[in-house]
Amino acid sequence: MKNRLKKTSLISKACLFSLTLGVFGCSSQPKQPSDEEVIKNTISKMTLDQKAEVLIGTGMFMDLPDSIKKKFGGGDDNELGPDYKAMVDHIRTYLPGAAGNTSEFPEAGVTCQVLTDGPAGLRIQPTRKGEEKTYYCTAFPIATVLASSWDTDLVYKVGEAMGNEVLEYGSDVLLAPGMNIQRDPLCGRNFEYYSEDPLVTGKMAAAMVKGIQSNGVGTSIKHFAANNQETNRMSVNTIVSQRALREIYLKGFEIAVKDAQPWTVMSSYNKLNGVYTSESHGLLTDILRNDWGFEGYVMTDWGGGSDVIAQMKAGNDMIQPGQPKQVLELVNAVNEGAIDEAILDKNLSRIFGIMLKTPKYKGYAYSSDPDLKAHAEVTRQAATDGMVLLENRDQALPITADVKKVAAFGNTSYDFIAGGTGSGDVNEAYTISLLEGLENGGYETDAELTEIYQKYIEAERAKGVKTDNWLAALMNGKIPVTEMPLTKALAQKMAAENDMALITIGRNSGEGGDRKPEAGDFYLTDTEKALIKDVTEAFHAKGKKAIVVLNIGGAIETASWANIPDAVLLAWQPGQEAGNSVIDVLSGKVNPSGKLAVSFPVSYDDAPTSKTFPGHEIKSDEVDNAADLSGFSFMKRTPWEVVYDEDIYVGYRYYNTFDVPVAYEFGYGLSYTNFEYSNLKLSASNFDGELTVSVDVKNTGSVAGREVVQVYASAPQVKLEKPEEELVAFGKTKLLNPDETATLSFTIKATDLASFNEATSSWLVEAGNYTVKVGASSIKINQTADFSVASDIDAGDVSNVLAPEVSIEKLSQK
Ligand code: BGC
Repeated sequence: MKNRLKKTSLISKACLFSLTLGVFGCSSQPKQPSDEEVIKNTISKMTLDQKAEVLIGTGMFMDLPDSIKKKFGGGDDNELGPDYKAMVDHIRTYLPGAAGNTSEFPEAGVTCQVLTDGPAGLRIQPTRKGEEKTYYCTAFPIATVLASSWDTDLVYKVGEAMGNEVLEYGSDVLLAPGMNIQRDPLCGRNFEYYSEDPLVTGKMAAAMVKGIQSNGVGTSIKHFAANNQETNRMSVNTIVSQRALREIYLKGFEIAVKDAQPWTVMSSYNKLNGVYTSESHGLLTDILRNDWGFEGYVMTDWGGGSDVIAQMKAGNDMIQPGQPKQVLELVNAVNEGAIDEAILDKNLSRIFGIMLKTPKYKGYAYSSDPDLKAHAEVTRQAATDGMVLLENRDQALPITADVKKVAAFGNTSYDFIAGGTGSGDVNEAYTISLLEGLENGGYETDAELTEIYQKYIEAERAKGVKTDNWLAALMNGKIPVTEMPLTKALAQKMAAENDMALITIGRNSGEGGDRKPEAGDFYLTDTEKALIKDVTEAFHAKGKKAIVVLNIGGAIETASWANIPDAVLLAWQPGQEAGNSVIDVLSGKVNPSGKLAVSFPVSYDDAPTSKTFPGHEIKSDEVDNAADLSGFSFMKRTPWEVVYDEDIYVGYRYYNTFDVPVAYEFGYGLSYTNFEYSNLKLSASNFDGELTVSVDVKNTGSVAGREVVQVYASAPQVKLEKPEEELVAFGKTKLLNPDETATLSFTIKATDLASFNEATSSWLVEAGNYTVKVGASSIKINQTADFSVASDIDAGDVSNVLAPEVSIEKLSQK
């Protein structure tokens, strides 16, 4: 580690080759060595210690107090000697607030990779000691908003802008997108994930990866796989059938890998059918690489798994954040013959394959000055496209021209939430509140009401806001204060003095904790219910309207109150331009076109997962390997398991198959205009490996708008049971003027129709009659057409791995 270059090495490939081989100089225009040659030569120059120091990350580098870092077992950098310590101290100056860094050895041509969260924008430290300059990043709309847009072009654009901040602030890989399935409404990180449906998840993630990576920086799709809860996330054993894994939990990752080749994949914290995902050869090698052709490297989630050697052998190339003792462990294991050095070399070659593409390796001179103004415009528009109009009685919205003065109720109107908490929280320069959005949109607001709310919020914040989520508290995540009780008299006074009421209901959650099926979380509190009722009644008494805005990251109960106000807009957590985006929609500047990518059940108990989420403790005598509960830990490791007994019946696949009514179904969303569907055509009535579906969509209303068109397929039940219907394609029209028609077409392949047959470990399209259903939601089907499959089609064999060790008593058979 002598002669460490002070600046990151900016060695061209040719120079590097000559440096490592000592054969030729840079000036003689030699033939460029191939990446493989560069990688091979780099590895050949490295000592075993250096290899281990690249494979194991350089430790905790988050903006946390030292005492806490110590508690997490970050280790002491001095353990690996002064050179290592000096190197680590140096690379940590590259980007304060990055989640992790990899070692650099310039003399061997190894540059550092700066790894940064993700996924709603770049998460870095906004201020630096001794500097005036600020380093804010754009808080883009959360993943749930983007998925609700059903617009992959839009998601690409958001990714492009986000990736530009990654590049311009000097990071190499964004730890995003998050793409776990929203299995249960209460997962605390649902806001970071796209949908309950794997097709929507996969397509959104692929678009995001392509957008980010178009900047020449990398992504890390996470958390691979079956990490659908936060409760005991570091030790929970997810027990799930191979079919549900392939069709639901792996499918989105498969689409993202095949369509977009993310530079990296982050394995998850949990165990999957008995094995930590980061130690699972079946998952990381057989499936990810052999079945799907993934070309990049795999890193652990921060502190995931417990056995470095097993991780290396499984194909988990890099351990993050890494501890010095893990470096020593790896070196000893090689010396003692417990692991072949060739495995380390293979993992390193995958890490270096990506390194060669990074801005750091190429010596990109980043500006630390991305165009935040332009990105604010991107986020403002993207958010409006993902907002979902849930109710709009008697065309209460858009706001009519006679409304000049608006009373904003609900704490969150003044303290709007841009995004969730934890590592997915971005340090943005500002969040536009609903109040500011109203004012920016030219509406007058009520000064008296504003003062009442602001005083209340200030006083509540001064008392300290309670949260069970220690990570949110630690990272200063924004937790809404308890709703302010409102007197009927004040509601009436406001109704007399204002033209309209907006009532915001807010929720927040994030990494480190799941939500609860209680008032104040999934359900509204009595104060919130009274707020909606009293304000609506007071305004109705004056012939004025009351509109509810939901500023939430995941589903809540709506069935008991949504018919009270005149309209309900689901704004989600829309990023830093929040208030402006909401007002763009409420005022009609933008016609809402978002649709739900997740079902809203009537009550939590209706969710198919409500009986099993978030799992249960396992008695210590049932744990076969107590040692694997050890390891670097953000959270206490409790022996825990969760059984996915709903199997493939996740979300609408369950509600629609078992006729369980929901508050709002998957795919639902209103518009200020109407659309008519006609002319559904199939390219053939017999399926022969591919089918084209086309349909006309006409705007029959009086304002311009966009429609999300959803294509579902119902398959025959022969050998394998099937859900009532499954989404097989989707698209979104351009902005259609009144009377304008668009024709959308979709191609359906065998892989889109196939079910996973565990008996043969292959994808199967069964012979029989199928129905294509094209509609505006999973229930509102407007056109159908039939086709048949003459004989069974084998849509591909895959590795027979990850079978559960125990038999699962399935919900559908109970
Ligand atoms: C989270 C990841 C995140 C990582 C680094 C972990 O606790 O689960 O999503 O990327 O920390 O901050």
